[in-house]
Amino acid sequence: MCGIVGYTGAQQAAPILLEGLRRLEYRGYDSAGVAVHGGGGIEMVKASGTVERLAEKIDGGAAMHGVCGIAHTRWATHGAPTDTNAHPHLSEHGTFAVVHNGIIENYAALRAELTAAGCVFRSETDTEVVAHLLERSYDGDFLRTVMRTAARLEGSYVLGVLCADEPGRLVCVKEAGPLILGLGIGENYFASDVTALVGRTKNVIYLDDGEFASLTPESVTVYDRTGREVTKTVSRVVWDLEAAEKGGYEHFMLKEIMEQPRAVKSTIAPRLRSGRVELDIGWSAADMASFRRIVLTGCGSAYHAAVAGKYVIESLCRVPVETELASELRYRDPIIGPDTLLIAVSQSGETADTIAAMRECASRGAKVLAIVNVVGSTIARLADEVIYTHAGPEIAVATTKGYTTQLAALYLFAVWAAEGLGRIEKTRYNELVAALSALPARMQRAIDLNTHVRYLAGRWHGQGAMFFIGRGMDYAAAMEGSLKLKEISYIHSEAYAAGELKHGTIALIDEKRLVVALCCQTALFGKMMSNVEEVKARGARVLAVAPEGDRRIFADADDVLFAPKGEELFVAAPELVPLQLFAYYVALENGCDIDKPRNLAKSVTVE
Ligand code: M6R
Repeated sequence: MCGIVGYTGAQQAAPILLEGLRRLEYRGYDSAGVAVHGGGGIEMVKASGTVERLAEKIDGGAAMHGVCGIAHTRWATHGAPTDTNAHPHLSEHGTFAVVHNGIIENYAALRAELTAAGCVFRSETDTEVVAHLLERSYDGDFLRTVMRTAARLEGSYVLGVLCADEPGRLVCVKEAGPLILGLGIGENYFASDVTALVGRTKNVIYLDDGEFASLTPESVTVYDRTGREVTKTVSRVVWDLEAAEKGGYEHFMLKEIMEQPRAVKSTIAPRLRSGRVELDIGWSAADMASFRRIVLTGCGSAYHAAVAGKYVIESLCRVPVETELASELRYRDPIIGPDTLLIAVSQSGETADTIAAMRECASRGAKVLAIVNVVGSTIARLADEVIYTHAGPEIAVATTKGYTTQLAALYLFAVWAAEGLGRIEKTRYNELVAALSALPARMQRAIDLNTHVRYLAGRWHGQGAMFFIGRGMDYAAAMEGSLKLKEISYIHSEAYAAGELKHGTIALIDEKRLVVALCCQTALFGKMMSNVEEVKARGARVLAVAPEGDRRIFADADDVLFAPKGEELFVAAPELVPLQLFAYYVALENGCDIDKPRNLAKSVTVE
């Protein structure tokens, strides 16, 4: 939530900062702002709305002069998305400008204290207290002043600070949110995500919580909370700028849907060696025997992947698996100990609730395995072991390849653990390894089979509400299909375990309603047909998702989307493809802002 970027070097900062903001806009897009240090002090421009609006206001950056600056794109927490509430925030006398990602939890107390001391606030944000605290405790030492101020803050704060007295120098701090330093030649950067930097440098430093950095064009120095210098490793970003661009597609979401065969291959292929699943994690599969149960956690789509993963892991490993939303797990008093394996699932690796749930479980002795896309992210670094999904950068707010690669990683884990635990016959193991190897091609087939989704979207886009029903893994996929639709098209939709519908919700079914029925598991097909009959008897229209070539479905469904046949345990990934496309084309028909749906942000770094 919120993207920040900073630059210091020899070039004009504003155009570089704007470019960084454009690449970070998926993190928040209700307002934006830039501050640069020109010869005469700090100059600042802010705009409600998109980064493009800000760009127009400053003529693409040409209207601002200065070679050092900070910028921000906002997802509002405190105060409406107005020009005034947009970041950066200036201190009373303009000595400091601050950009912030996170929430200052004790801001009300700090604001009251500052107001009592005569400070006049301009905005409704929590961030403005930081600017005033900085100025009021300033003793001429920029870095130490930021450190002293940060020590007074509670909550999550990634801050970028510009000081009028020190042109060419930036100070930043990370506490519970992502912050990356980019190292150039004669220029340096900070940003919330490497996507903002990769067009300019591939050499980056991932900061840890409680670390501060001081940047000038020639130097980058990192300090811990006590002010001691810290030696950091410089990492090299492995992907290119094109991976973070639309590549000819109208939207990032469509591009990312189409990339799924390749992305799933990147998750699976490096881990299949000589007909075996090799995970390269610090435990042997046999160590799995020390875990009496597995808890899978995550938020949103990552949680939906966890639900699908539960079916697969339990079925193959015969270990009890529970799933729990991270936002619930963190505030319970969970019965979790050293015999629990927590699997935390996250595309961004920065989701605040997932991080908190991991910390909670780890403090009770659980071992933590993370399934994460973003390399070097907080969740990856907090976990005992990591399976990276290697999906490449995902820019659209609605996750697609992020989700299906999480499924692929969970499938790999399930097969690997089942073998280590001795719970799987060799023949079945070989079958599943072959099915994993075939999954990228099956994802491609799912795309190829569904060329008529656009036509169907044209037919159904006017619906006021929809229901998605399924059983078992189809239910897990229904949850994700439903979320995809509602988050980008704003059509109300709910997912139900198909057998549950008649326990109340069926009251909402009438002849206006479209029910999307996922019927991709052979053993449950008959049961699903009964549920389809039930809703049809109440006048609903049915859009079915069924195994490729299964003609039986035409007897009951009004329209059909096909999922390619293959190993049924792994069906959630290919059957989601037509539902992603359906959501995409419905949103397109309805004129929605697909890559940046209202009220959302890609990375939810506040609770
Ligand atoms: O980065 P994460 O996987 O931890 O994100 C979790 C959710 O915020 C995310 O999946 C969200 O639900 C997406 N908007 C769904 O498309």
